[in-house]
Amino acid sequence: MLAGKRVLLIIGGGIAAYKSLLLIRLLRGAGVAVTPVLTAAGAQFVTPLSVSALAGEKVYSNLFDLTDEAELGHIQLSRVADLIVVAPATADLMAKMAGGRADDLASTLLLATDTPVLVAPAMNVRMWDHPATQRNIAQLRADGVRFVGPDEGEMACGEFGPGRLAEPEAIFAAVSSVLAGGPLVGRHVLVTSGPTHEQIDPVRFIANRSSGAQGAAIAAALRDLGASVTFVTGPATVPPPEGVVVVRVETAVQMLAAVEAALPADAAVFAAAVADWRVANASGQKMKKDGSGQAPGLQFVENPDILATVSRAVGRPALVVGFAAETEDVVAHATAKRLRKGCDWIVANDVSPGTGIMGGSENAVTLITAEGAEVWPRLPKDEVARRLAARMAEALAHG
Ligand code: C5P
Repeated sequence: MLAGKRVLLIIGGGIAAYKSLLLIRLLRGAGVAVTPVLTAAGAQFVTPLSVSALAGEKVYSNLFDLTDEAELGHIQLSRVADLIVVAPATADLMAKMAGGRADDLASTLLLATDTPVLVAPAMNVRMWDHPATQRNIAQLRADGVRFVGPDEGEMACGEFGPGRLAEPEAIFAAVSSVLAGGPLVGRHVLVTSGPTHEQIDPVRFIANRSSGAQGAAIAAALRDLGASVTFVTGPATVPPPEGVVVVRVETAVQMLAAVEAALPADAAVFAAAVADWRVANASGQKMKKDGSGQAPGLQFVENPDILATVSRAVGRPALVVGFAAETEDVVAHATAKRLRKGCDWIVANDVSPGTGIMGGSENAVTLITAEGAEVWPRLPKDEVARRLAARMAEALAHG
């Protein structure tokens, strides 16, 4: 399905640029032709010769190259491909894209094109977290640009966090789903996952047993259908999937802020097991026994209900899916919850002890929609995720 397609690959400046060489090999191996564009900064990290040798085509890098202009011209160059991939995309290149600047060949091509664009960012974690970068990303998303990654982990600069270029295989998978026209291509979907930790004092917190497995599987399934996924996760034990934008939070209050910052989205899945309460009198210092034998009295205050807040917000995602973990009367409780929260669907599951569902690898769910309740067989969490993602794609296509 990919054979015969063409990708215009813009290689920006960053230590991760070497991964773009592996990406070229994966693309060529699948029969995809690659037209490479190397920015001046990119050429500091990989040579035009290695890029050209792997791509089997000439490398474009200069806006004012008289031969290139006479042969093809930068406007034509911006239209030759089925997809433009920017990997690695630096903070600077994304800022140029968001601002509509055109002061070198890469930014000019990106401004002149009407071809879909997939961006794989790579930068230092603080640069990624900076409000300016986050603003640019929100703008680019609104402009229809798709994202893959960044991953998180140890970086070449020695720091740790989000900002690592997605692995070539993940970028290749994202390219494949765009080129293959997955049903969620061009859609932005938000997924919350994992537990929240609510602080008691600097060393203690209240948590729950959510592993984040179901949320991670849903994010991966949505990604596989071509969606651009923002994955807002509490401290889960299951790692986040590759090829999605990961936002890590600890508390419910932080999760709400991260969710609001990630909107707008076409759809949202709230799979996180958010703590209902946080400690109102959390201590700034470690609490100590005072010898009186008296236990400290914790007072609680209700957390914001993220699902209900987003469901009722102006400009909410067209499809909002909540979860209901119940231990009895699953359908009745989940049906009432759908109305109470104002979401479109509820994925209800029986988490009573003995089912082995919480923290396990399987799930038995009932999908509650406006039309009623649909009981699904007990399935691996991955399969539940795939079915849910397919149903969401169907609903968005018809909605
Ligand atoms: O009310 P309950 O916790 O049973 O509702 C579960 C659903 O609501 C889940 O989808 C969960 O992610 C979401 N939720 C939320 N914010 C809360 C509590 C629950 O988004 N504070």
